[in-house]
This record gives sequence, structure tokens and C-alpha cells, in this order.
Amino acid sequence: MNKVYAIIPAGGSGKRIGGGTPKQFMTFNGRELIAYTINIFNKCEKVDEIIVSVQPEYFELIEKIKLKFGFDKLANIVEGGKERQDSVFNALISLKADNEDFVLVHDAARPLLPQSVLDNAINTAIKKGNAVVAIKAKDTLVNGKEIIVNYINRSEISYIQTPQIFKYTTLLKAMQKARDESFLGTDESMLVTRLGETANLVQGSSLNFKITTESDVELFHQIVGKREIDF
Ligand code: CTP
Ligand code: MG
Repeated sequence: MNKVYAIIPAGGSGKRIGGGTPKQFMTFNGRELIAYTINIFNKCEKVDEIIVSVQPEYFELIEKIKLKFGFDKLANIVEGGKERQDSVFNALISLKADNEDFVLVHDAARPLLPQSVLDNAINTAIKKGNAVVAIKAKDTLVNGKEIIVNYINRSEISYIQTPQIFKYTTLLKAMQKARDESFLGTDESMLVTRLGETANLVQGSSLNFKITTESDVELFHQIVGKREIDF
């Protein structure tokens, strides 16, 4: 059986939220945000190992979180990079994976990924070679900043989320190529499609939002205050 490695980039500083503590280490109901995220992968039977990239000053905190919650699949902690892409790359090159193994990347800042979405994504990757979680646009879409210039057909638009799952060799090749060409993408699918590979979309969830702004922090507080999350 091919293994599934889950990379969780958590090396950002959360500039859009500001404050001293990066969002992934802020606590919600007494638990660090990243603990919610790691928990999803630790509980998923199809995931073999979890690798987290963080800035060195947070290595100790991750070790503590690992012990506190008994995250037995958390196999390695690597150094985060300047950009998200660098953080993912550092984790990727730390793996001792086989070419046909799968590597999944999921933002630390998406702590409410439903298990069903994760399962579907892994099953799709196994069946079709890769999987990218996305949701269909729901609102009316326009071009224009201060006035409406024109309307965009939303039936053809999707918002890309994570997880994104690729074969180890494919992702390594795509990330190496991006590095060689100094190409900075906003996600892995962008790098893999640059190789000419077709990416398969899997239905995501609104719950899988990325905590990005202060109002997302507020929303996550409200949600964890109201629903029991199984650890
Ligand atoms: N990330 C990372 N290394 C970086 C930058 C980001 O591992 N150098 C991670 C973040 O920790 C987060 C995910 O990538 O889990 C998505 O990034 P984003 O939401 O943009 O987080 P930040 O970069 O921390 O936030 P901001 O862009 O507001 O500074
Ligand atoms: Mg960022």
C-alpha cells in the first residue's frame, strides 16, 4: 500500500490578523488552533504520517502539543521558510517517501476540515492520481474595484482550498521546477499544473475556511464555543 504523508505548513506570521501570536498558535477553548488541524489528520485512518513546518521558536510548543494530545502520527517538525511554498518544500524534502506514495498539503489555518472531505480527497487521489479540494462560487462575481465593470459566469468559478494531494515524485518535480524558475505560487496545484498535469477537483466545504482575518478568528471562536470537537 502506498503511504499518505500529510504536510501542514504553519510557518506564517499572520500579518493580516496582526498581534504577537501567529493565528495557528492562538488558543480557542483552551486549545491551540493548530491542535484542531493536526487532530483531523491524526484521526484519519488513511493518513500515515504528519509533518509540520514552523519557525524554530515554535518547535518546543509543537512538541508540547504533540504530548498533550497524544498525536502519535506527528513524525517530524521542520523549519518553516520565508514563504508558504518554502515551508512546504522544507517538509517535502524531509520525507523518505517512495515515488508512488501520496503527499497531502493542508494549511494549518484551516482547522475545521470535515473528515468526509478529507476521505473523499484521499480516495480521489488514489483513484485518479491527485486531488484538489475546492468549493464552487456562490455569490455573484464581478470585475471592478469601485464600480461594476462586468459580470463573470460563476458557474465556471471555484475557490481552491486545501487539502491538495499529489504523488510524491510529481509534487517534488513541480516544486523543484518552481524553485529553479523562481516561480512563487499560492498553492501546490498551481505548481503541479505547470508541469502539464491535470488536477482533479473534489468538493470542499464552507467549514473549511482559512482563518485569515480578525472576523475569521471571531467566527472560529463562535464555532468552537458551540460544537463539541472530538479529540
Ligand atoms: N505559511 C507557512 N510559511 C510561511 C507563510 C505561511 O507555513 N512563510 C502557512 C501559514 O502558517 C498558514 C498557511 O501557510 O497555515 C496559509 O497561509 P496564510 O493564511 O497566508 O497565513 P500567514 O501567511 O501566516 O498569514 P498572512 O498572509 O496574513 O501573513
Ligand atoms: Mg500568507
